[in-house]
Amino acid sequence: MRTLVVDHPLVAHKLTALRDERTDSPTFRRLADELVTLLAYEATRSVAVEPVEVTTPVAVATGVRLAKPLPLVVPVLRAGLGMLDGMTRLLPTAEVGFLGMLRDETSLLATAYANRLPEDLSGREVFVLDPMLATGGTLVTTFELLVERGARSITAICLLAAPEGIATVEARFPGQGVTLVCAGVDERLNEKGYIHPGLGDAGDRLYGVV
Ligand code: URA
Repeated sequence: MRTLVVDHPLVAHKLTALRDERTDSPTFRRLADELVTLLAYEATRSVAVEPVEVTTPVAVATGVRLAKPLPLVVPVLRAGLGMLDGMTRLLPTAEVGFLGMLRDETSLLATAYANRLPEDLSGREVFVLDPMLATGGTLVTTFELLVERGARSITAICLLAAPEGIATVEARFPGQGVTLVCAGVDERLNEKGYIHPGLGDAGDRLYGVV
């Protein structure tokens, strides 16, 4: 797995505000949305395009458009939903699939409780949205599902990652075709599987404790 930590002052500024426990849910949602758009800009750097000609008011120009099959964006429920608008702002023609993942708090293993993905992902570029790469369990299960269906390239966009989670995903997916783009890599996981210092429970901070 290739890991890209986006090094940009606006990314660092927004991430710091997200971490602050005093940041309320509406502000947290707005900041997460803006941060994802900045990360998406880097994450889509190699998105497949094809040449196209357009007629300007002056002459014919050659340019590019997104190649088919169009990319698929997959927010991992629930917290990944808070990243969807920020991503589709840059890729409005992408299709969107959904995955609901539950983490067993004892084993820390993830299983899918909802799966709305195309059966055939042959040749597709997939962008997975999940704010926190903690133990890596959710991302490993998600990547396995996508690879089984034939995805050609998979990029996970996360706000924050823990070194333990990166190592787990890397051990399972050592090769090309899998990329992580994030705003920061923190020190470690704590005993409850939370990222330290992190930003707390991303789902709760986006949507409240329900
Ligand atoms: N999920 C979260 O929302 N936060 C963490 O720190 C770890 C997993």
